Amino acid sequence: MLVLGIETTCDETAAAVVERAPDGSGKILSNIVRSQIEEHARFGGVVPEIAARAHVDLLDGIIGRAMNEAGIGFAQLAGVAAAAGPGLIGGVIVGLTTAKAIAMVHDTPLIAVNHLEAHALTPRLTDALDFPYCLFLASGGHTQIVAVTGVGQYVRLGTTVDDAIGEAFDKVAKMLGLPYPGGPQVERAAVSGDAARFAFPRPMQGRSDANFSLSGLKTAVRYEANRLIPLEQQDVNDLCASFQAAVLESTADRLSVGLKLFREQFGAPHALVAAGGVAANQAIRGALQDVADQTQTRLIMPPPALCTDNGAMIAWAGAERLALGMTDTMEAQPRARWLLDANATAPAGFAHTRAGF
Ligand code: KG4
Ligand code: ZN
Repeated sequence: MLVLGIETTCDETAAAVVERAPDGSGKILSNIVRSQIEEHARFGGVVPEIAARAHVDLLDGIIGRAMNEAGIGFAQLAGVAAAAGPGLIGGVIVGLTTAKAIAMVHDTPLIAVNHLEAHALTPRLTDALDFPYCLFLASGGHTQIVAVTGVGQYVRLGTTVDDAIGEAFDKVAKMLGLPYPGGPQVERAAVSGDAARFAFPRPMQGRSDANFSLSGLKTAVRYEANRLIPLEQQDVNDLCASFQAAVLESTADRLSVGLKLFREQFGAPHALVAAGGVAANQAIRGALQDVADQTQTRLIMPPPALCTDNGAMIAWAGAERLALGMTDTMEAQPRARWLLDANATAPAGFAHTRAGF
């Protein structure tokens, strides 16, 4: 079963062809990702209007390359999948509409995939992982702990009540004068910094829920940075190292609670799985390994290129749904917001915050 996948929800224009065998195993035939970082860098973040226009310009060529590299024609596709949300609506419209056009012209099924579901199902492509498993999704837009119990079956165990982890890295980088995207820059600066110089808060530490909070920590970094102006390079390194250390400790604490909640509700998970751009951070990978060791849980971290946004994960989620007969009609709507767990509600006490529920 050959499926084309299209990803345009943020600042990557991506397309891929994935093959799913009858035994459920998967193979990536092509995976083309064109990052728009250069287009957005001088604005210090993703500009939705520029992203949407860039997707329009780039997508046809990227799809053509993905098909060529896979060595197949549209007639051989069993289906075409697009990320139909959540994300920046202009980009989502471009990807979904393109997928509809291909599906219509070549009379092949359309699968409107939830971008978060695609992250969630990636370890089944890379490691043939069985359900149930525990997903830690940490990107620029999302920070969630999710129980994945089947295709289309997700229970959110924890979420951020304010900023996503990647967003906090990006904001800290910006306030310290480091370029966008900030995550890798903060990680690099932290290597030469003293993590013990600043005693930043460990948000949510010790709470019995598995939620995250990053905005207080970010404000604490801002306060110290303002106090130290003008910042020397060593100050920046120390601020980055102390910030990252706080994120690591908080993440480890939140994840161990998340795994406890998982066990109570679903039994032992087959693995703890990391996804999202933040999972590219070596220090965070180390913290996840510690949590996995302490809880005797297998840790799966897909290669960084499959942790960050890509077309293969969309194609794979499309193939998993298609195999179960879960296809969509031409009425499928692009969605800026789309909960992975439709039953998830705002964390208690945080109903009025801007959380990525
Ligand atoms: O998953 P992703 O590529 O895109 C979405 O947000 O959906 O994640 C990008 C985010 C950005 O916030 C970026 O700063 C963060 O992941 N990130 C990192 C690192 N690499 C990327 N954060 C911390 N350390 C890194 N090495
Ligand atoms: Zn993503």
